Amino acid sequence: MPSKALALFEHGGDLEKAAQVAGCLSEEILDFSNLLNPCGSPPGLVDALKTKVSLSLRHPSSGKALREKIADRDGLSPEQIFLGAGTTEFIRLLPWVKRPERPFILGPTYGDYEKSLWLFGVEPRWIMAREDEGWVFPQESWEKALQEEPDWLILSRPNNPLGQSFPREALLKTVLGNPDTFFVVDETCLEISVNPGDEFLPKPFPSNLAVLRSFSKAYAVPGLRLGYLVVSTEWASRLAEAQAPWTVSPLAMEAGLFLLEQEKWLEETRAKNAVEKKRVEQKLLRLRHFRPVPSVLPAFTVKGMAPGFSAGALLEKLLVREKILIRSLEKHRGLGRSFFRIGLRTPKENDRLLAALQGMDIP
Ligand SMILES: Cc1ncc(COP(=O)(O)O)c(C=O)c1O
Repeated sequence: MPSKALALFEHGGDLEKAAQVAGCLSEEILDFSNLLNPCGSPPGLVDALKTKVSLSLRHPSSGKALREKIADRDGLSPEQIFLGAGTTEFIRLLPWVKRPERPFILGPTYGDYEKSLWLFGVEPRWIMAREDEGWVFPQESWEKALQEEPDWLILSRPNNPLGQSFPREALLKTVLGNPDTFFVVDETCLEISVNPGDEFLPKPFPSNLAVLRSFSKAYAVPGLRLGYLVVSTEWASRLAEAQAPWTVSPLAMEAGLFLLEQEKWLEETRAKNAVEKKRVEQKLLRLRHFRPVPSVLPAFTVKGMAPGFSAGALLEKLLVREKILIRSLEKHRGLGRSFFRIGLRTPKENDRLLAALQGMDIP
């Protein structure tokens, strides 16, 4: 059934709308629809920001200090780094700078790439991993697409929602072997994955590559709106002209400087998340009607196995009966009505979700 609630949830984390549907306060919703570090934000972040609040009243600076710190960590030059209001800013901006005519997207993947290309006025084509092939990388369709000489190819590694990653060496070979294709590699979810070192920042940095990185997921700060784009210095000046001024607030920049010092905390959270993920996975596997897809992220894309299962209907039931919000993938290209995503949370909260799933009457 086409769900009224489902139509309301294009992205995860919309607690205001969830509360409307559930008829409760947004604080009462247990939100599994996000893909964020289940351990939350590093201790000390809020206190550190409290001392900097007055900076928010000024115009943002160029972010030199933060760009230098990122450049230092990632072995890049600060001129290659553009700070933005999350990677979303660049997903929306890049088509206007590089003006694709024959773009391809590797899917199933994050929905905003397609929307961004549509808004620019171009219809993307798809290279799709398939369920009946075990969601493995679609080598044959990939090669076929490249033969069609796309001028733009966007992919996410690891991929959200399925949580698989394109092998780095194969990707580098493809990027270098196809200089007329502009590759946009979205690594927004890399640092919460089990392979944070698997980054794609080749040296020298190819001129036909853009890489997106974010603070939102790893540090669970999606409201700060902080991400960055890495490009080759060759076309950095064009990008600098195209980007709207002041999109990153001074407070977000201060947070970025603080967060880059939290490597040890981040490492510890990854270890904790891996243990909890294994525990939840084992419990999910015991549920008769649900099958998780293997993934490197602290989240599960789950398939409802019962005939007639609808992720949208499950979302609605969980929300209304249990005040639990999941992410339906019913309208997600390449997935459909059997699939939904749950982000990992604390053990107690995860157990509440597992109990609710167990108790759901599946049609
Ligand atoms: C693959 C992917 N790319 C980009 C984004 C946007 O992230 P940001 O908060 O950095 O704009 C998301 C958020 O869910 C995502 O999953």
